Amino acid sequence: MKLWSPWDAAHFNDPYEMYARLRTEDPVHRSQTGEWIITRYEHVRDVLKDNRFITGNRLEWIKRGIAHLHNHELDFHAIAQAMCGFMLFLNPPQHTRIRKFMHAVWTEREIEPQIRMNAREILSRLPKQFDVVKDIAQVLPALTMSRILGISPNDYHYLKNLALQLIKGLDLYITIKDLVTIHSASVKFIEYFRTIIRENNMAESGLLKKIIQSSENTPDLLSENELISLCIFLFTAGEETTSSLIGTGTRNLLHHAGNSPITNWDAAIDELLRYESPVQLLGRIAQEDVEVGGQLISKNSTVTLCLGAANRDPEIFESPNQLNLLRNHNRHMAFGSGIHFCMGDWLARLQGKIALEELLNTYPNLKPNGQVKWTRHLSIRSLSTFPVRAD
Ligand code: HEM
Repeated sequence: MKLWSPWDAAHFNDPYEMYARLRTEDPVHRSQTGEWIITRYEHVRDVLKDNRFITGNRLEWIKRGIAHLHNHELDFHAIAQAMCGFMLFLNPPQHTRIRKFMHAVWTEREIEPQIRMNAREILSRLPKQFDVVKDIAQVLPALTMSRILGISPNDYHYLKNLALQLIKGLDLYITIKDLVTIHSASVKFIEYFRTIIRENNMAESGLLKKIIQSSENTPDLLSENELISLCIFLFTAGEETTSSLIGTGTRNLLHHAGNSPITNWDAAIDELLRYESPVQLLGRIAQEDVEVGGQLISKNSTVTLCLGAANRDPEIFESPNQLNLLRNHNRHMAFGSGIHFCMGDWLARLQGKIALEELLNTYPNLKPNGQVKWTRHLSIRSLSTFPVRAD
């Protein structure tokens, strides 16, 4: 049996046994397609903190694919344009400049009352039977990000769907059919933010206005395309990821903790993030020959880091396959590590906590009501549907 076969139905639904075998039998594994698969916590963390590994492979890969397909009269250039300012794909010194800039402009964190109000409003409109993913998990992050950016909350549904389509561009393997969808979402996203920016149609107090004003004082930091792409990224980065936390989080709470009250929400959210990490895989490229766990990773090799496996490493976490909502010193890497560490970790935790708290308080007898379905993503592990019943 192949050690790395993430698309096998059994592994797709539950990758943790496959991860466990990799971690013990071949923790730095050369896959059949040539990339290295890394599963132990220490190795994953070391690579993320090692500047001999760079990111950007995804954008390069997409650009190469686009150039190739262009020869076959297929035009996917909008994808590269939509993603040119995705911080995940940038390396120093450009990444350092934009990250510093974002830290300076994104200082407003007083968003809790707004998120709680949105969560309550969403819940108040639900019938007795509903879908945790479609009706809550996908909706709340889009409303929150619209509010933070200062764009119309009426557009959240449209933008949420674009974000869910675009995120597929971050997956490990992409088909031409996916590219067509990602391209169409890119075109619409670019058009949306270009119009808003050119017509100056955003709230004075929102983050988008602040980004525009501050970038005017920092010439050469962001072109218009990069500015548009940064907005697309901010909207997309927190959509499927936070939706995953709320969707799988509800499922794991109902399954493992029943309906017993949560006494420490902060610990519970971190444990849910460790146990079912929304971002399962990250990619890096070796800039030179590097040894990891006794294996020589040669220059230009692609490395896939399994956060989902690292977060269940028994060397680091006691009884890692148990959901322990009171776990202490939870050093999970669900938000990555090193220079690309998630900038929205606080927001994701806050939204996860409010959504789950409000949901379980409103419906203390919530029960699953049919089969869940996983999305067809490898990099982001999330549910596409989770029907429930509130008796
Ligand atoms: C549960 C929800 C979330 C999870 C699990 C998550 C996870 C991650 C991870 C693993 C990375 C690192 C990627 C890498 O190293 O290649 C990352 C980066 C990032 N995330 Fe999140 N994220 C979440 C929510 C959010 C939210 C709500 C935002 C808000 C906009 C956000 C903004 C970002 C940004 C800007 C980066 C790029 C940082 C950089 O490249 O310097 N994330 N996230």
